[in-house]
Amino acid sequence: MHPLVDLIRGRIRDGGPLPFATFMDLALYHPLHGYYRSGPPIGRRGDFFTAPQVAAGFGRAVGRCFRQALAALGLPAGALLELGAGDGRLATDVVCALGPDAAPAAVHLLDQNTARLPRHMAGYAGEITVHENLGVIAPASFRGMIYANEFFDALPVRRFRRSRAGLREAHVAWRRDRFRETWLPAAAPEVLDYLARYGRGGVGRLVFEYSPGVPGIFRELRRITDRAWIVIIDYGDRAGRVLDPARPNGTLRAFHRHRVLAGLLARPGRQDLTADVNFDFLADQARENGFETISLETQGQFLARHGFLEEFQAAGDARAWAVNLPLRQLLLPGGMGEVFKGLVLRG
Ligand SMILES: C[S@@+](CC[C@H](N)C(=O)[O-])C[C@H]1O[C@@H](n2cnc3c(N)ncnc32)[C@H](O)[C@@H]1O
Repeated sequence: MHPLVDLIRGRIRDGGPLPFATFMDLALYHPLHGYYRSGPPIGRRGDFFTAPQVAAGFGRAVGRCFRQALAALGLPAGALLELGAGDGRLATDVVCALGPDAAPAAVHLLDQNTARLPRHMAGYAGEITVHENLGVIAPASFRGMIYANEFFDALPVRRFRRSRAGLREAHVAWRRDRFRETWLPAAAPEVLDYLARYGRGGVGRLVFEYSPGVPGIFRELRRITDRAWIVIIDYGDRAGRVLDPARPNGTLRAFHRHRVLAGLLARPGRQDLTADVNFDFLADQARENGFETISLETQGQFLARHGFLEEFQAAGDARAWAVNLPLRQLLLPGGMGEVFKGLVLRG
């Protein structure tokens, strides 16, 4: 039995059913046994691919987005910060695209698991600092470029059910040798506000997720920087699509060995759990902290605008494009090109 199953069972025995967000936090980020602590979950031998694993051109497009913005504003590059940097592959591609003339003065890589982050990058002579959280960065000490890919969809979420009887929150109990979901009455004014703002009216039954970490992240970003250009790429959509009554079971799903599974409570620590990002919520939280939205578009549109295709044309590599399905999926409607969105902020 996986050690996390025992550990979570013990917590439930001592304190009663666990809120789903606590279960998700332990399953993904427990310091010893969490999913993102053990093994390489991303890539061919893992459970899913992220875009930087598919093509270095993805990170180069993010780098070009920064270059264009800085050139238009006549600003120096400043420092570079990635939220949820994983194994640092994306950061390497972004730094490469910035090149020597827009090289960042410093690179900050943030991840709960700092063990996999690089301390050096070929072709970059500046300082690379790794952080477990933003709290260690001094107030107003950062100026420059911030980005995140598949960071917000990996944050633990609270799960709610709205019905005529009121709001209930998903908890996890242990019964008959299995983790089971149980819905308990919830008093959560911030979630009722969230629902009033983003949920479509009506009292029909609806399961939805609320990501409690989002407001704190934008407050932290505002605390550390007085000027930044921010690129956020993630799985998700506008609020109306994420909280769509046509998706009555919400958006949470589990990934295991490249398959999407419905069993959210099975295999804690051995499967990924992820929920769609509500981009209106992100943009609103950003605005409340003084960051304005420059653009919100599909990943395909973002990549196309930042030279992803031209790279293949320039390299005369039409064949690579024709035969490489994952590569096309990054760009085209129907695949990651459409279900991922790119949000650009400044402030
Ligand atoms: C799906 S992975 C994406 C990794 C990388 N950005 C990529 O595109 O391949 C999400 C990463 O975010 C990190 N992460 C999640 N929540 C975090 C938090 N609150 N603070 C720091 N890192 C976090 C995880 O440890 C994990 O490495």
